[in-house]
Amino acid sequence: MSADLNHYKLLYEGKSKILYQGPEENHLVMRFKDTATAYNGEKKEELPGKGRINRAISDFLFSYLEEHGIATHLIEVMDENTVHVKNTVIFPIEVIVRNRAAGSFSKRYGIAEGEVLHNTVVEFSYKNDSLGDPLINDSQITALGLAEIQDLDSLRERALAINKLLCPLFLRSGIILVDFKLEFGRAAFPNGEILLCDEISPDSCRLWDVSTGAKLDKDRFRRDLGHVIEAYRDVYQRLIDGKKT
Ligand code: TMP
Repeated sequence: MSADLNHYKLLYEGKSKILYQGPEENHLVMRFKDTATAYNGEKKEELPGKGRINRAISDFLFSYLEEHGIATHLIEVMDENTVHVKNTVIFPIEVIVRNRAAGSFSKRYGIAEGEVLHNTVVEFSYKNDSLGDPLINDSQITALGLAEIQDLDSLRERALAINKLLCPLFLRSGIILVDFKLEFGRAAFPNGEILLCDEISPDSCRLWDVSTGAKLDKDRFRRDLGHVIEAYRDVYQRLIDGKKT
């Protein structure tokens, strides 16, 4: 059962999550919605159970990353769809990490999906729905005052450290981490520390079965492959089973 959040002040409703002012100062309440969207909101559907499973997967991964030295915004689970998180000022930048060619990278450079890259790619895109989240480089980011150069170095370093932790974690569950998107923010309290925020889930990653290549992520929704929630549940179960081995 999801807790009634009517008495919390709504701060922001996005495509897949809602943020409320938390019960304590500097805490927020983040609820994962069942809504699935793609192509900048053009394709939209309710997928019952998606919020719950993404909350569970994201908590699993954030807790694992915390245990391995990555600071995150996660405080505690409130209910099956909802978590308490630290209040942050989010960098208006999406950090995308790619181990293999897929999606927009394959399209942009004309490379077959699945091609292993010579090195891990880290890309930044400007979080701006009306512009379609365009790719942006360091000098463009600093020119627009979106972040300082030392922040970008720190985001890149953290993104690569996260990739190094998550690739083997997924692999022991028989899953290839093809690419993923991260968001970071600066803690509003007490010291402006940079924290990993938002979520890591099959909505924000490409996850392929290591033996069949089956897609276990939001590409099932984007590309009308069906069995979206079943695939997400499979990812969660495999992560849990992988922990036991
Ligand atoms: P892309 O190939 O479409 O650029 O996506 C790369 C990865 O980033 C993929 O795992 C999906 C994820 N992603 C998001 O989670 N949100 C976004 O807005 C975008 C553009 C990508």
